[in-house]
Amino acid sequence: MARKKIIAGNWKMNKTPSEAVALANELKALVDTDEVDVVFCVPAIDIIPVVDAVKGTKISVGAENLYFEESGAYTGEISPNMLVDAGVKYVIIGHSERREYFAETDETVNKKILKALEHNITPIICCGESLTQRKQGVYIDWIRMQIKIAFQNVTADQAKTCVIAYEPIWAIGTGETATADQAEEVCLAIRECIKEVYDEATADAIRIQYGGSMNAGNAKELLAKPDIDGGLIGGASLKPDFKDIVFPN
Ligand code: PGA
Repeated sequence: MARKKIIAGNWKMNKTPSEAVALANELKALVDTDEVDVVFCVPAIDIIPVVDAVKGTKISVGAENLYFEESGAYTGEISPNMLVDAGVKYVIIGHSERREYFAETDETVNKKILKALEHNITPIICCGESLTQRKQGVYIDWIRMQIKIAFQNVTADQAKTCVIAYEPIWAIGTGETATADQAEEVCLAIRECIKEVYDEATADAIRIQYGGSMNAGNAKELLAKPDIDGGLIGGASLKPDFKDIVFPN
């Protein structure tokens, strides 16, 4: 089954609202396509102006986080309804930076995925190993565990709509990319894990991205691999070069 590629920018904690509008306007002229799904995942305060800036294009806007309750006394958090009302279609969940600096666990990741799905927001579910885990040879076991906990109580029909981002922590923002073979090995293992948890149809439908220093120079080789269905792009999503990942050559 042919899976549509999905290229998502993760702007992280970069760009003020006015800077975000300027970047969205610059990029939208370069990456407005229906050949691949293009998503700008932006800081919460930039969501409304960026949704407005890309109106009339095929580009979707994503959030970088959400909270797993509907509303109430959770100072500083953002609810799924707030994101939906603002025009958000995707949400990054469980990025390694959130796990490391903001105490996200596999359990909170699971709760957030269920909440996003309940509100028809597509989760981009991040997983990935540290350099130590890679050297110890436990990286596949580790990622299988992350995936199995992330998908607790997610139905097969819901799982089919999800996006998984494999991001080896040692490759994020370091300039050190996993080789295309290393990335494919893990993306295939993730697909096999989904097949075990669900079935072949679900494994065939789910989209798996690679992320970690993906750029104009390495995107083509990574995206040519059979189990890599797109990319989650940090640094290179803030530059016009982003178009060379959406349209690799
Ligand atoms: P990077 O970030 O492309 O800057 O390595 C990727 C990510 O953290 O999603």
